[in-house]
Amino acid sequence: MKQKLSQIPGPIGVFDSGYGGLTILSKIRETLPQYDYIYLGDNARTPYGTRSFEIVYEFTLQAVNKLFEMGCHLVILACNTASAKALRTIQMNDLPHLDPQRRVLGVIRPTVECIGSITHSRHVGVLATAGTIKSESYPMEIHKLFPDIYVSGEACPMWVPLVENNEAQSSGADYFIQKYIDTLLSKDQQIDTVILGCTHYPLLLPKIKHFMPDGIKIVSQGEYVAGSLKDYLHRHPEIAAKCTQNGKCTFCTTEAEEKFIESASAFLNEDITVKRVVLE
Ligand code: DGL
Repeated sequence: MKQKLSQIPGPIGVFDSGYGGLTILSKIRETLPQYDYIYLGDNARTPYGTRSFEIVYEFTLQAVNKLFEMGCHLVILACNTASAKALRTIQMNDLPHLDPQRRVLGVIRPTVECIGSITHSRHVGVLATAGTIKSESYPMEIHKLFPDIYVSGEACPMWVPLVENNEAQSSGADYFIQKYIDTLLSKDQQIDTVILGCTHYPLLLPKIKHFMPDGIKIVSQGEYVAGSLKDYLHRHPEIAAKCTQNGKCTFCTTEAEEKFIESASAFLNEDITVKRVVLE
């Protein structure tokens, strides 16, 4: 039976398939420290990048419902795979039934909006999970705003496991970092801007910078998502009024609490308390 959702203001929900969304959350908190946040990581079922449309949609909808039940009126899908495969359907088909006053936003549109002023050659590359690349969400969103930009994509299936297994700094990671960059750039010699279209990839930034040829700009999405959210709340005071402001952040995971705390330390510079939740 559907639960009645509270109309009392609540925190902003930030959802990711695992830890990667913490890179987005930290930029959002830097930009908007006054708000309260609930971070929800579906760590027990990560990765999403290799899963089908149906499953990513089902899991993401469960997470959105959970965050709504926890009092969020605004939820950010801080996961490119979820943004690519579930956001549109949730916005169009589910929100009208769940609560038309609540909002769910993704990370692809805010990332794409900045591209037009960054690329000079009008040739852009996207590095992301297999699911995000296959969805064609980046080329579709880029072409809506900038029809003249030529987009090439390359899936990097080994990058998320490198981060999740604490191998981001290891010399063994070099082979896979270089491999996907070289493959992407060999598709189009004129690429001057590369989007890191996965929330885990900023953790690989030192090595990505090392293997990216000079002169190619790397777009890491956290700051753009944070800036876009600030702008959104400014343009939508009715939604901002439903977001509480005590500067607090709560962390939830579908995995064991201890495991989340241990692994999240690579992403955060603070001691956190974590609550386990069940998504269904
Ligand atoms: N956080 C996901 C993304 O941004 C990557 C991790 C996963 O495959 O679940 O696409």
